[in-house]
Amino acid sequence: MKSNNTFRIALFPGDGIGDEITEPTRMLLDDVAARVGGFAFDWQSCAAGAAHYREHGTALPEEAMRTAQDADAILLAAMGLPEVRYPDGREIAPQLELRFELGLYAGVRPVKPVPGVRPILADPRAHDIDYVIIRESVEGLFAPDAPGSIDEHEARETLLFTRDNCEKLFDFCFRLAGERGGQRKVTSVDKSNVFPAFGFWRDIFYERAKGFADVRADHCYVDAFAMVMVQKPWTIDVAVTENMFGDILSDLGAALMGGLGYAPSADIGDDHAVFQPCHGSAPDIAGKGLANPTAMILSAAMMLEWLGMRHDSGEAGIAASALRRAVDDAFADRQLVTCELGGDAGTAAVFAAVKDSLARVDV
Ligand SMILES: NC(=O)c1ccc[n+]([C@@H]2O[C@H](COP(=O)([O-])OP(=O)(O)OC[C@H]3O[C@@H](n4cnc5c(N)ncnc54)[C@H](O)[C@@H]3O)[C@@H](O)[C@H]2O)c1
Repeated sequence: MKSNNTFRIALFPGDGIGDEITEPTRMLLDDVAARVGGFAFDWQSCAAGAAHYREHGTALPEEAMRTAQDADAILLAAMGLPEVRYPDGREIAPQLELRFELGLYAGVRPVKPVPGVRPILADPRAHDIDYVIIRESVEGLFAPDAPGSIDEHEARETLLFTRDNCEKLFDFCFRLAGERGGQRKVTSVDKSNVFPAFGFWRDIFYERAKGFADVRADHCYVDAFAMVMVQKPWTIDVAVTENMFGDILSDLGAALMGGLGYAPSADIGDDHAVFQPCHGSAPDIAGKGLANPTAMILSAAMMLEWLGMRHDSGEAGIAASALRRAVDDAFADRQLVTCELGGDAGTAAVFAAVKDSLARVDV
């Protein structure tokens, strides 16, 4: 952090709906900092993504990477465009490169619906669910150090877990469950009934659990867990899972909150963190003013909370709560219905409502 309580933020609008949701979120963050006082932001805009690759031949320029490395936090909208690909057919995904380069092993994906958004699950016990999926984010089936192979007869991918990374990841989860102070439970979501690699994962999970006496550890196979998320989600507290499983389950979690536009996330490592919505660049609605910016705003609130804890800034923590309350208040009368739920509240309407609520919340 700069000496005058100014957080340096690397800002990646990325592709598709990225531009539409980034600038208004930046303005909300400046608003909340001004309201709370005691801190400010130094915004450092970074060009990267699929459109950048198409124009300049590079997806994540060195300068953007350096800015990200030097920043106090990284705020990113979404990257990738299905039609823009590397010569080997892979999509451009600098958000994955950032995770690998900066060691962002814990993908934190809260599943906590905004109270005024129409509930998706019918059971009233599911209306105020509040749990977190931790998606392991640098290994598993996405591990860059374990590329697959392909020839005309067969295609292989490799699933990799290392002991060091598993230990750090599980410790992160047990600490989080303790700090949340809810059910104080961490569930390993794996497939150890079929794959020995998940047996390795689960053994380390229970080894690390011994260091956290006030938090319970249990486990569930990933297929059964998908059912639990729908049938009795109130039993979940913190659930930790492999990269690919987490990718899939967190979209299910988003759907259970009303849609991808409501699902925030954070990719956290020991020294860096990226905050970004769970969704992609949504090219199908880009430029139409339909994108729901709530996930981006809630990701910004997660960034404030993380900065507050990391830099011992009570003001940033207060700002995080104020921004969350502003979102809740904006949706509270159930008039704001976004496109995922069949409504006509677009990007501008949601931002205006949140800005208005923010001006009125007590800080
Ligand atoms: N973290 C990331 O940057 C990230 C994540 C996922 C996908 N992607 C990339 O994004 C591109 C599009 O991928 P996709 O279509 O599979 O996933 P997507 O998340 O972009 O969209 C899936 C569906 O959800 C809708 N949606 C997404 N965000 C929304 C929002 N804020 N408001 C309202 N509706 C929203 C879209 O309109 C679409 O119908 C691809 O290039 C993909 O690789 C990037």
